[in-house]
Amino acid sequence: MAINRTSSHGEWSSRTAFILAATGSAVGLGNIWKFPYITGENGGGAFVLIYILCVIFIGIPIMLAEVYLGKRGRLNPIASIKYISEKENRSRNWQVIGLIGILAGILILSYYAVIAGWTMAYSVRTAFGTLNNIDAVGAATMFENLISDPERLLAWHTIFMIITTVVVARGVKSGLESAVVRLMPALLVLLLALVIFSSIEGKFYDGLRFMLYPDFSQVTWKTVLIAMGQAFFSLSLGMGALMVYGSYLSSDISIPQTCVIIALLDTIVALLAGLAIFPIVLSSGLEMTQGPGLIFQTLTVAFATMPGGQLFGTLFFILLIFAAWTSSISLIEPMIIWLIEKYNITRIRAATIAATFAWLIGIGTILSFNIGAEIKIFNMTIFELLDYLTSNILLPMGGIMITIFVGWLVAKENIDVELEIKSNILRFIWYFSARIIAPIAVIFVMLNALGLNLNIFS
Ligand code: PFF
Repeated sequence: MAINRTSSHGEWSSRTAFILAATGSAVGLGNIWKFPYITGENGGGAFVLIYILCVIFIGIPIMLAEVYLGKRGRLNPIASIKYISEKENRSRNWQVIGLIGILAGILILSYYAVIAGWTMAYSVRTAFGTLNNIDAVGAATMFENLISDPERLLAWHTIFMIITTVVVARGVKSGLESAVVRLMPALLVLLLALVIFSSIEGKFYDGLRFMLYPDFSQVTWKTVLIAMGQAFFSLSLGMGALMVYGSYLSSDISIPQTCVIIALLDTIVALLAGLAIFPIVLSSGLEMTQGPGLIFQTLTVAFATMPGGQLFGTLFFILLIFAAWTSSISLIEPMIIWLIEKYNITRIRAATIAATFAWLIGIGTILSFNIGAEIKIFNMTIFELLDYLTSNILLPMGGIMITIFVGWLVAKENIDVELEIKSNILRFIWYFSARIIAPIAVIFVMLNALGLNLNIFS
């Protein structure tokens, strides 16, 4: 039987609610905006295959470990790990995992909200027909105009941050849960509609082939590392978001099964996003351009030239706002419960403080696209630095510490009690992945992030 501690912040009303919330955290700009773009850059099918392997062998084991920590600790990430390390007679210094997570969450949110703001701007533009009949040059100019206007970016950034704050301020049951329970199914329906549209209007076969045909000639060790980093970001791992969601789980819910479902849903959404986007891009004879370009420039051109494009374009951008919103809720939640528990303040006040913090840092990202573009730290703009610091350093660092802590330092019988993996083979696979495969793999991500290219195959 699992240990019966409960979270003072309430619990999910059901297993489905937890799955929806965690999937809401996982599915975001990472799946719909970033996954198609890096798949395009890294050779299509082979990258997708490696990504899926990373999700299975690295992502899922770490996810189990992270949710385990939250469910056992029942507190904010720092206090949960402190509690568990005391129980296990380990150094309390491991609570730094929680600190890294809270920091990473706020830093990611600061630029995530800016990009989500672009999505809001584009949904309005598409809805009002501003983008109808636009060509590639016009779309590029339009995008350029948006990102070079700090006031407009600030307005969207602020609106997005307020929406996020309002939902989280209402708490787990009335805020988070009711939001994701409605948003997640809506998101899947919209995405499926978009895939159907793209299968009729786009070059569906070519898009499918691009995504599924593995061309290993383009794969390098670095491709594997990029796929692994994406698995971290996309599954919301290494920063306490799923730890916090795990702390709201009632004790009778099985962690392993639930994690597999979440990873599966996240991967399905990424693949659907690819299926929705690639055929349209290909049928328009456009290139798979980089980052923001793929959706905000290329796809708007595609939508503009297609019958029904205005409607589907609008739906697409709305879908992206939903996805970003449910992810941002989980980015801010670790800091909120830490503030509540540490300083004994109300949820509304904690949400306001955390959001203000992220909002202020976000101004740096906004300026890095325009008047502050020349400001470089380590040869990176503020936005690039924040992205680099979080994705390449903080998330892998959090992930490796979580998996080492749980895999090596928590007593096996205590893990078994909570994880309840019945099959001996599955239990062995999990331990092997959490103790050996995941830590080694994550070290490679980190060393690569630090610029030490480990060309062990050459
Ligand atoms: N998983 C989200 C995405 O794919 O967009 C981003 C994210 C959310 C990362 C929450 C980390 C996190 F804790």
